[in-house]
Amino acid sequence: MNHFLDINRTDAAELRQIIEGARAMKDARNGRPRGMTDDETPLAGHMVALIFEKPSTRTRVSFDVGVRQMGGQTMVLSGADMQLGHGETIADTARVLSRYVDLIMIRTFEEQTLIEMAEHADVPVINGLTNRTHPCQIMADIMTFEEHRGPIAGRKVVWSGDGNNVFNSFAHAAGQFGFDLTFTGPEPLDPERGFLEEARAKGVNVTIERDPHKAVEGADLVVTDTWVSMHDPVSARERRHNQLRGYQVNEDLMARAKPDALFMHCLPAHRDDEATSAVMDGPHSVIFDEAENRLHAQKAIMRWCLGV
Ligand code: CP
Ligand code: NVA
Repeated sequence: MNHFLDINRTDAAELRQIIEGARAMKDARNGRPRGMTDDETPLAGHMVALIFEKPSTRTRVSFDVGVRQMGGQTMVLSGADMQLGHGETIADTARVLSRYVDLIMIRTFEEQTLIEMAEHADVPVINGLTNRTHPCQIMADIMTFEEHRGPIAGRKVVWSGDGNNVFNSFAHAAGQFGFDLTFTGPEPLDPERGFLEEARAKGVNVTIERDPHKAVEGADLVVTDTWVSMHDPVSARERRHNQLRGYQVNEDLMARAKPDALFMHCLPAHRDDEATSAVMDGPHSVIFDEAENRLHAQKAIMRWCLGV
């Protein structure tokens, strides 16, 4: 069963095929992401369940549009409307959904919910973000980097800010796509060591550098994300802002990266917190290409899952 659960759980050659498939589907649309039908409709006759236990704009809309462009149909379900976690086990929900739909995409809190869904479903399951990882986002980000700057292998990616779920998927990708990764942020918000060690074991250079100015030297790509993720307690907001203020991506920081460095943010962003508007709207920024590429990358992921 081709579940898409995490970037480290899919073979590197298959990840590469997915990126190439996404590129081909994007090219086939001749620069027009909108418009409801592709030339080919490989998902005709397929029903896809999109389950959200957390809010979403990009994931929800890009999956929904992507399925329809490929001729399939979607059912968008909010966790609150389902029996999920209200007594019915995840395993039973997975077995029931498998009698109705061909593919399940789930955005949830605990990674264990995703894993149990995949273990008990008879259809492929896609990770649409958990507290620990966000693999679809990083597939779109790899695609975006490569369309602007060529192969990402051997490049230097610098993450400035919170060591969160999006960072963790970058660490998975570093190992699978062969790029170097530097984390810069305050120690209490370091990523889990296991993500760094796993990437290192695959032969890439993964470092922690507390000084953001030193960290971005020689960077081909600078990335950040919100300082307070959806699963973080609201009460942590002020403390996190104080801890992370020095890691804001602003023009001064970008000026210390390579002159042609790209800037990425998965969005939604809190402008002038983790990144200034001058950077987000400036010459290094590819944030809206990342958002568009969610559509193309996820279409390729769904085709890989379903083998169509
Ligand atoms: N980047 C991302 O996953 O955005 P949403 O939370 O809007 O889906
Ligand atoms: N780290 C963020 C990503 C949102 C797409 C969160 O989990 O809230």
